[in-house]
Amino acid sequence: MARKKIALVGAGMIGGTLAHLAAKKEMGDVVLFDIAEGLPQGKALDLSQCGPIEGFDAKITGTNDYADLAGSDVVIVTAGSPRKPGMSRDDLLGINLKVMKAVGEGIKNNCPDAFVICITNPLDAMVWALREFSGLPHNKVVGMAGVLDSARFATFLAWEFGVSVKDVNAFVLGGHGDTMVPVTSYTTINGIPVNDFAKIKGVDQGRIDEIVDRTRKGGGEIVGLLKTGSAFYAPATSAIAMAEAYLGDQKRILPCAAHVDGKYGVNGLYVGVPAVIGANGIEDVVEIELSDEEASNLKVSVDAVEELLVACKNIDPSLA
Ligand code: APR
Repeated sequence: MARKKIALVGAGMIGGTLAHLAAKKEMGDVVLFDIAEGLPQGKALDLSQCGPIEGFDAKITGTNDYADLAGSDVVIVTAGSPRKPGMSRDDLLGINLKVMKAVGEGIKNNCPDAFVICITNPLDAMVWALREFSGLPHNKVVGMAGVLDSARFATFLAWEFGVSVKDVNAFVLGGHGDTMVPVTSYTTINGIPVNDFAKIKGVDQGRIDEIVDRTRKGGGEIVGLLKTGSAFYAPATSAIAMAEAYLGDQKRILPCAAHVDGKYGVNGLYVGVPAVIGANGIEDVVEIELSDEEASNLKVSVDAVEELLVACKNIDPSLA
């Protein structure tokens, strides 16, 4: 059987980390693509030379030509520009929309059977635009956000309670950003609902609310510390978990920005929901029961995503 092929569109901080992880796990051969000449080739060469030391057998190549994506089983997209000082949200939307157009067409023309995971921000709008531009089926295009957001929530909870992160199962819904909805009612510490565990540990609701707030602002906290970039280790690790679920037909239930049509009162939008990932891509969206407060928080989040799509359609009328 031929080796799987993993294409990484964007060879920046996340792209390079993705390549390292994919190669180390021997998920398949890796193609790094970027518009910057030399960058993907340089990273591919550097990473290839990890092989003899780490003992992995994966071919890693760098390219500036979309034709090299041909036959990819998985494409992970991080191409785009970060928000720079003085840039409005719409400026950023305009820039990254153009990038999604080029990437979407590159995928459509070279690897239309791939499972595509988008990481580029603003995530919920970019994954939607990438799907529109690529024309791939909705179940084959997904955004990475929830795995990362729940990992952040789980990390903070584990620190607070002094327990292993392995025992924390955190649950986050909604858009990626300040309106995300960490769902404490479905968050457990080895099966014990987090609110019950908090009582056992004498942690009050105010402290849990602070952790929820820190989770919502988790990306910004890292930007503030790094100053010249945004998080890359955990975002890459999250997307790799999603790619492994697809390649291994694992049927994992992972929170991701999936196309939702009918569930959660959402019609035809990409929003963060628990989704089953297997060989057919997004095989199902799991609709859980929400409290009134959670449902209304989700509505705020969905409205924010909808607003972004209106802005996208104004910038590029071909999306309307
Ligand atoms: N086609 C391909 N690559 C592109 C294009 C394009 N049209 N435009 C920009 N790029 C490349 C840049 O050359 C750069 O190497 O995308 C890469 C982005 O890498 P970084 O700037 O290092 O960004 P990174 O930290 O990897 O984050 C990527 O993920 O989490 C989100 O907000 C983050 O949108 C950002 C994305």
